[in-house]
Amino acid sequence: MKRVIIDCDPGIDDSLALIYLAALHHEGAIELEAVTTSAGNVGAEQCAINAAWVLAQCGLRTVSLAAGLPGPLVYSLTTTPETHGPTGVGYATAPDRHVEHDWDALWCDAIERSTEDLHLIVTGPLTNLAAFAQLHPGHFARLRHITVMGGAFFYPGNTTPSAEWNFWVDPHAAAEVFSRTPVPVTVCSLGLTEQMVIDPAALRRCVDTLGPAPIAAELGEMMRFYFEFHDEMGEGYLAQVHDLLTAQVALGALRVDAHAATVDVEADSELMRGTSVEDTRGFFEREANAVVVTGADIEQAHREFLRACEVHAKFFGGSRDLERARDARAED
Ligand code: BDR
Ligand code: CA
Repeated sequence: MKRVIIDCDPGIDDSLALIYLAALHHEGAIELEAVTTSAGNVGAEQCAINAAWVLAQCGLRTVSLAAGLPGPLVYSLTTTPETHGPTGVGYATAPDRHVEHDWDALWCDAIERSTEDLHLIVTGPLTNLAAFAQLHPGHFARLRHITVMGGAFFYPGNTTPSAEWNFWVDPHAAAEVFSRTPVPVTVCSLGLTEQMVIDPAALRRCVDTLGPAPIAAELGEMMRFYFEFHDEMGEGYLAQVHDLLTAQVALGALRVDAHAATVDVEADSELMRGTSVEDTRGFFEREANAVVVTGADIEQAHREFLRACEVHAKFFGGSRDLERARDARAED
């Protein structure tokens, strides 16, 4: 069975990725071994509070969870309340709670168990992964499956004309990861992830399918904020859910097109901060360090997410489980 660590910055689309992974965990398709958070959409502690809440609304309170580093390796932290709401979950709010900080110990423990089956998915800035490479080089070198959401290759950025958010927030971390990675990193960049769009009709189908799962009652308020943001940006009343698609790609749930490339990220120039470049022609004279995913079956991605929603509905479906659903709502 695949074991998964997700390092994320929830974040509305990160939250959808968590909902997806929680369903796979419930059905026994994966073991969600740890959830850690980076500073990005909001601060790392708030991201951990959000992740804990989303998982609880999905009936998963036992997953190891910790906040990662409080900010990028070099630059000071920029967050994006205009995109994900004041606390990162749109118009919803996660209740405050204590947050652990032993994120790298969780990663070390998982790596020590084995790495052939361990999938690390990063859907926020790459700060923790880059720091992990520096703090625990031996453990880092044992990683076999790394998938990240980030970058924009010959494609307009969403933060500057050429840079995508996750790479822009901590470009030094992104550059560091690509320079040291022990295996080609699977990269889901904007040209791919912007294709994964949820609109109000798709949201309604998800909420209806989730049925008694407590997260169903929260999704509307989360997504309304994300719809409004995309609308203000001229995309329409819909939401691009980058991180959900990335989690699906990471676990091999979709048919994809991909190619090998050597990826690098500009860190220090003010103009080009966070800009990612892929070389497929050998200009850099460096080995390929990435598998760049250029296409995915988006219809399949929607069907797969609905299937995950069904898993949640079943998990909360029996009479005992309905009580569990009520308890989860009452506690939070
Ligand atoms: C990325 O930026 C964040 O706002 C999203 O959560 C996603 O990971 C898209 O550029
Ligand atoms: Ca994210």
